[in-house]
Amino acid sequence: MVNSKTYQDGKDQYVNEESGTFGIFNEIQSRYAKVDPTSYLRRSTESGYHYWGRRLGSLKPVELLVAEYDKAELKKYLTWWQLIFIGIGTIIGTGIFVLSGQAAAQNAGPAVTVSFIIAAFASMFAALSYSEMASMIPVSGSAYTYAYATLGEFVGWTIGWDLILEHMVGGATVGVGWSGYFKKFFALFDIHFADSWTEPTVVWDENPARIYYTEGHYFNVPGFVVIMMVTILVCIGIRQASWVISIIVVIKLIVVLLFIFALCGFVDRANYTPYVPPNTTGDWHFFGGPGIFAAASTVFFAYIGFDSITTAALEAKNPRRDLPIGIIGSLVITTILYIGFCTVMTGAAHYSELNTPTPVVTAIEAVELRTEHSWLWLKVIVIFGALAGLSSVLVVSILSQTRVFYSMAKDGLVPSFFAKVHPRFKTPYRSTIFVGTIMAIMSAILPVDLLGNMTSVGTLLAFFIVHCGVIVLRFTRPDVERWFKIPGGKHLFIVFPIIGMVVSILLIAVSEVTTIWRLFVWMAVGWIIYFSYGIRNSKLHRDPVGRFAEVQADISSTSTTNENTYTTREEYNYNEHK
Ligand code: ALA
Repeated sequence: MVNSKTYQDGKDQYVNEESGTFGIFNEIQSRYAKVDPTSYLRRSTESGYHYWGRRLGSLKPVELLVAEYDKAELKKYLTWWQLIFIGIGTIIGTGIFVLSGQAAAQNAGPAVTVSFIIAAFASMFAALSYSEMASMIPVSGSAYTYAYATLGEFVGWTIGWDLILEHMVGGATVGVGWSGYFKKFFALFDIHFADSWTEPTVVWDENPARIYYTEGHYFNVPGFVVIMMVTILVCIGIRQASWVISIIVVIKLIVVLLFIFALCGFVDRANYTPYVPPNTTGDWHFFGGPGIFAAASTVFFAYIGFDSITTAALEAKNPRRDLPIGIIGSLVITTILYIGFCTVMTGAAHYSELNTPTPVVTAIEAVELRTEHSWLWLKVIVIFGALAGLSSVLVVSILSQTRVFYSMAKDGLVPSFFAKVHPRFKTPYRSTIFVGTIMAIMSAILPVDLLGNMTSVGTLLAFFIVHCGVIVLRFTRPDVERWFKIPGGKHLFIVFPIIGMVVSILLIAVSEVTTIWRLFVWMAVGWIIYFSYGIRNSKLHRDPVGRFAEVQADISSTSTTNENTYTTREEYNYNEHK
């Protein structure tokens, strides 16, 4: 923890050399640094208008946050390469196995590889900001927590609501991708399932934008079932042991490398011409230079997940050094793999053929056709790897969403229903079942591109807010120790988060107008819920003194009994929910 001394001593200790440098920020710093529970209460002289306005911007103090989680004294066992493995385990999924082909076929052609590089840039900047945040507030690592501590309750809620898009809608996207590979696997052996029960109910067309029911497509049963199965596993306490993650990651890496190296000698160069197909529709999202950016917004999905490394902050052996290595290292490795993967895929098959639920298999089949040689073994291995890889992403999506709901329930912003822990399994089973069921239904009904695009813009918005948070905290809380700092020193560091913010907004702006509208509608629904429930039930405001006392009491009992020494990351995850 930062320390309870900070809480007791008040603002005096924040007058340090850095704050002196910032001069005009002294006053702001001391205001932010002052952790006085009574300051959350309404003052007798304060008007209602002023009080409720103040509540919107009130911060959850870093000290309170850290103290809440400091009860868990974790064994530090994760090394830098294990952190990289965790990152790769949650990054590689539907983005590369499904959306890459669709973005190539619909938006960018072979230049989808360039789109992957652009999306990697946006992620890299976010990785820096996440690294600094995680090294400073090494709690459960969700952007919701970071925002509540830095930008206030309203922004915290906004990002928490937005994170549902990243985890819950993202998980549904992965479920649809899983279903496509599941069907394809059986099709290899001439077992065909009818579309009626293996395809989402509705279809989404981008040009012109419309969503409609497809006659005869009732429900995507495989997508629904796999998500419900993962939900049950998570409920009864699937172990996130690092060796399980390591095995799945090794499988994923082998599959991706195998695809690249097996097919690179069978690329047809003619497929790269034109590398940037011309726009013929008049809508700038479809091909031409701008189409590359539209595709970048879609394939950005492929990088989502690296932020989950931050949840391992407390268990890293040397977090100051290893967390940034884990985040940045996994991003660099996946970017290189993605570039190789897309180059081979768009060279093996013409981009126009790749708009299928399993573009990777489509690419292998194009080579089969050209070479008149069966590649069944490669198809089986690739599909197996994709199914295993997508399943691991599903586990993380459900765990992450549950964790966000759990944190929000502890803060009183959503009903305490979400924080209820199962007496035997010690998992937040109610929120897990809730999250899993909604995810499964979405996956059964909605198409992959619709879900994927929503996830991408939602996550970009979350990144934008995290960038803001990093900048704000540099000025308001220079006193809190950071294991990792964005390079550039006291002033120039700001260049990185600002570029990150600009890139995030640009990628949101180039996505479909309808996607942006849906984002607005989603956020509006979230704000209605906040103003009708969250703001009134926020624990920080209902009983700030009691809340602080509760945390202080927990710290004292921990320091005297020291009972909560967890030995593994999974024990921590479950005990965290007690
Ligand atoms: N990056 C993850 C995927 O592509 C979410 O499935």
